[in-house]
Formats: sequence, structure tokens, C-alpha cells
Amino acid sequence: MVSEGKRVAVLVSGGGTNLQAILDAQGSVIRSARIALVVSNNPGAYALKRAEAAGVPARTLSKKELGSQAAFEKALDACLAEYRIDFIVLAGFMTILSPDFTRQWDHRILNIHPSLIPAFCGKGYYGLRVHEAALARGVKLTGATVHFVNEIPDGGEILLQKAVEVLPGDTPELLQRRVMEQAEWKLLPQAIELLASSEL
Ligand code: GAR
Repeated sequence: MVSEGKRVAVLVSGGGTNLQAILDAQGSVIRSARIALVVSNNPGAYALKRAEAAGVPARTLSKKELGSQAAFEKALDACLAEYRIDFIVLAGFMTILSPDFTRQWDHRILNIHPSLIPAFCGKGYYGLRVHEAALARGVKLTGATVHFVNEIPDGGEILLQKAVEVLPGDTPELLQRRVMEQAEWKLLPQAIELLASSEL
């Protein structure tokens, strides 16, 4: 049975495999929180279908249609208030939030990044690009990091990390998949439970 507990909004932009991992972990790894809302900034995101299939309310807020970052964040604020959200999880959310927004939600926004921060992170490092950079540099270990979001892209306090081996013959796609399977899909539910069940 899915428990009540803290109300989480998951922000997405794409395929939503991390969202799926979170949805699947409700009632097992995640006992102290529930996904109360999914917000996508991309109307075509497959993640929206995953939310629908799980019966979770989902909204699309397009920055392009709303006209500016400020208008996007105002609309987001309204959604978060409507659903009485306690904290936010960025799960493949490809928009940088403003310092005003992150300050309001200090230590209440988690992000998953597909590398061992401080390697291959910050502006310009997202999605497959992170794995391309890791392969180009020739690292033998990479991984994933869950961290709190502050005004510095990928610069907030680190909560959890897990290392993953780079193997001979890896392509960015193969490495991305291994990092997701071995690290991201495990770390993110664990981090949500940690935050929801503690006084952090
Ligand atoms: C994931 O690998 C996530 O770590 C990454 O995008 C992918 C989204 O996949 N996020 C970033 O690069 C953020 N800087 P998903 O939509 O299948 O969860």
C-alpha cells in the first residue's frame, strides 16, 4: 500500500525512466512520501504517459508558451501550491531554475545527475553529453549523483553517489543505460526516502 506522507512533485522533460523508478518504488523503498504531481516542460515527454498510467496528476508548463522563465516559475509555483507540495525532484528536467526559485525551496529540491560530481557537471552537461564527455576523457569509473539544488548548476550539497564502471567498447548510449540501471534508478528513490523521513 502506498503511504501518505510528504507530497512530492517530480519535474521531467523526456523519457521519464527515473520517474518510472520513483513510481515503482512507492510503497517499498519510498515509504514516507508519495508522488502527488508530475510537471513536464515538454508537451511531448513520454514521462507524461508514465504519470497517466500510474494515475498521478500531470501538468505541462511550456516556457515557450508562457513567454519567459519568470512566467514559467510563477505557473510552477501555482501548481506546487495547488497540490500542497513539500518537495521537488528533478528527474531528467532540462531547465535551469532561477536563484529566486531555488532559494525559496532551499534543501527541498533534489536533482539526479548522471556522473560523479564534480566531474562532467554544470552548464552544458546533461543527458548523453555527460557520457560522451566521460568517454572522451577516458575515465574508468563514472556514476550518478543526487544533490540538493541551489543557484549553481549541479553545485548544491551532495546527498548520495554511486560509482559505475566504464567498460571497453562502451558507447554513450551503452554507458548511459548502465549508469541508469546500476545507479540512477536505485539512488533517486533512496534519496527521496532519506529526505522525506528525516528532518533534513
Ligand atoms: C538521466 O540520465 C538523468 O540523470 C539526466 O537525464 C536523463 C533523463 O532520463 N539528467 C541530467 O543530465 C540533468 N543534468 P529519464 O528522462 O529517462 O529519467
